[in-house]
Amino acid sequence: MALLRCQHCDYRWNYEGENEHYATCPKCRYKVKIPGEKVSIFRKKKMERELKSKISTEKKPVKLLGIAKIVNKVIEDYQYDENMLIQILLKLQRDFGWLPKEMLLEISKQLRIPLFQVYQATTFYKAFSLSPRGKHVIRICMGTSCKVRGAQIILDRIKNLLAIEIGETTPDGKFSVETVNCMGCCSLGPTITVDGDYFGNLKSPDVKGILSLYT
Ligand code: FES
Repeated sequence: MALLRCQHCDYRWNYEGENEHYATCPKCRYKVKIPGEKVSIFRKKKMERELKSKISTEKKPVKLLGIAKIVNKVIEDYQYDENMLIQILLKLQRDFGWLPKEMLLEISKQLRIPLFQVYQATTFYKAFSLSPRGKHVIRICMGTSCKVRGAQIILDRIKNLLAIEIGETTPDGKFSVETVNCMGCCSLGPTITVDGDYFGNLKSPDVKGILSLYT
C-alpha cells in the first residue's frame, strides 16, 4: 500500500494495485506516476508474492511438518523480538542444519515481519544455508593470500572429485562445498576445512586423501 497524490485533481488515496510505475487516479482517471521510493515497496511485495507462490508449489518433506513448533520455541526464547532476527536464524541454522523456505515463512509470520526481510538476511550472511548441507561440509578459502598460493587449483580438484559446484551437495548427501574469504591462517594457504578440521599448505594430490578420511 502506498499513499499517492494525483497531480491533476490533488486527490490522495492509498494505492494497493500491482503496477510499479503508474496508477490511475480513482477520481479523475488521470495517470499518476508512482515516485521512485515507492517503486521499491512494489518490488519487495512482488518478490514476496513470487517467493510465497514458489514455496506453496514445492512438495513439503515429512520432516518439516513440525516446523511451526520448532520456530516458535526459538522465537519465544528471544521474546518475539524482531531485532533478534539474525540470532534466531543462527540458532535455527545450528539446530536444523539449514533453513528451509517453510521455516522462513514461519519466522516471517511469527515475528510479524515481511518475508522479504527474513529472506534478505539469509542471503546476506554466508553462515545461512537455504538448502540441506551434506554430512561433511568442506570450506575452501578463496581469500587473496590463499588464492595466490593456488586455492583455485584446490577448489577445481574438489569440484572435480565430487562432481559438484560451490554451494552444492553430492547426491549421496555426503559432502557439501562452500567457499569463504579468509580463515585467519593465511600463511598456511591454500587452506580448507572439513567439518572444522584445518588442512593447510595443500597441493592438488593431497585432496583425495583428505576426503577419504571422511566417511
Ligand atoms: S586468505 Fe586464506 S586463510 Fe586467509
